Amino acid sequence: MKLFEVYPLHDIEIVKGQGSLIWDKKGQEYLDMYGGHAVISIGHTHMHYVQRLTSQLNKIGFYSNSVKIPQQVQLAEKLGVISGRNNYQLFLCNSGAEANENAFKLASFANNRKIIVSFTKAFHGRTSLAVAATDNPKIIAPVNQTNNVVFLPFGDAIALENYFAENGSKVSAVIVEGIQGVGGIQVAGNIFLQTIRTMCDAYGAYFIADSVQCGYGRTGKFYAHDYAQINADIYTMAKGMGNGFPVAGIAIHPKLSPWYGMLGTTFGGNHLACAAALAVLEEIETHNLIKNAAIIGDYLITELKKIPQIIEVRGRGLMIGIDLPTELAHIKADLLFKEHIFTGEAKPNVIRLLPALNLTKAHADRFLTSFSKLINQA
Ligand SMILES: Cc1ncc(COP(=O)(O)O)c(C=O)c1O
Repeated sequence: MKLFEVYPLHDIEIVKGQGSLIWDKKGQEYLDMYGGHAVISIGHTHMHYVQRLTSQLNKIGFYSNSVKIPQQVQLAEKLGVISGRNNYQLFLCNSGAEANENAFKLASFANNRKIIVSFTKAFHGRTSLAVAATDNPKIIAPVNQTNNVVFLPFGDAIALENYFAENGSKVSAVIVEGIQGVGGIQVAGNIFLQTIRTMCDAYGAYFIADSVQCGYGRTGKFYAHDYAQINADIYTMAKGMGNGFPVAGIAIHPKLSPWYGMLGTTFGGNHLACAAALAVLEEIETHNLIKNAAIIGDYLITELKKIPQIIEVRGRGLMIGIDLPTELAHIKADLLFKEHIFTGEAKPNVIRLLPALNLTKAHADRFLTSFSKLINQA
């Protein structure tokens, strides 16, 4: 059978990783400033992570949610403490899209409403309602089209208030990324997020904080929405949660009470997934990686802002967007093929940095040196 290629592929085969470095099969070393799309949070083949997963696999790798899995309880407790929300409850699933689907479903069951408010340039996943709430008509199949999702301008608190004034009683949930990732590293302002909170409270709608990409300490706070000092009703998370092992979840505010059977999953919260997620949280806690993300991220942003050829540097912590003019669109490919540095991208010409939270200053400097060299040669 021929393989379906999900994306156009780079002709690179990665065979080994260690921390923020990876190697291809020819032995070429690369600096990983992309983390496989914000997934590698504590570095490749991290010793504690490998040991925790190996030791769990040697005991038991999987059993279904019909039995007690104490690792799930440990994970919920630790996540509650580190995220500062130990009064929430955790539902575990497998991917970011699935987390968002469950959040929509939970909100709709709770207030018996149908309208979901999403925002321009939002990305929430590729499954039915998650993709319908994603602002990209190209990936919304006819069967996913629905009048239940409304898009409002991202960052526009007035437009949001006006919409609620007319339709508030029909809104089930508002979903927003604390920093839009696929949308090009666009930071949601504090007033905008606080207005979402106020509108949801005033009209009985639920606030879903999509933290799939911007959460888990990446921005220098556990959830990027924390900068606005608000509590969401549901936080959805995935990517960095398992450092590469598929694990996702939703943290549910005590005002919501899902009943048995409302949310369910076969694979979600299995022993191995919990071991991976616990290893990540233990590492974040022991080495204060959220602080490291803030410090190294600030350093990168400050240094990048000194480069005059860049149109704009956006982001927080280790979620950074470098907006380049069209004539410098080739820099991303040059970084990979000339300087051997992996980065991400967003349309039209944004380079996205999403490295591991324990990125060192030396690796940040290696990136800055290569980037400046390429920009000055262009
Ligand atoms: C903000 C956001 N939400 C949801 C998703 C979907 O996550 P997954 O690919 O794990 O389904 C993504 C993936 O890029 C994302 O960036």
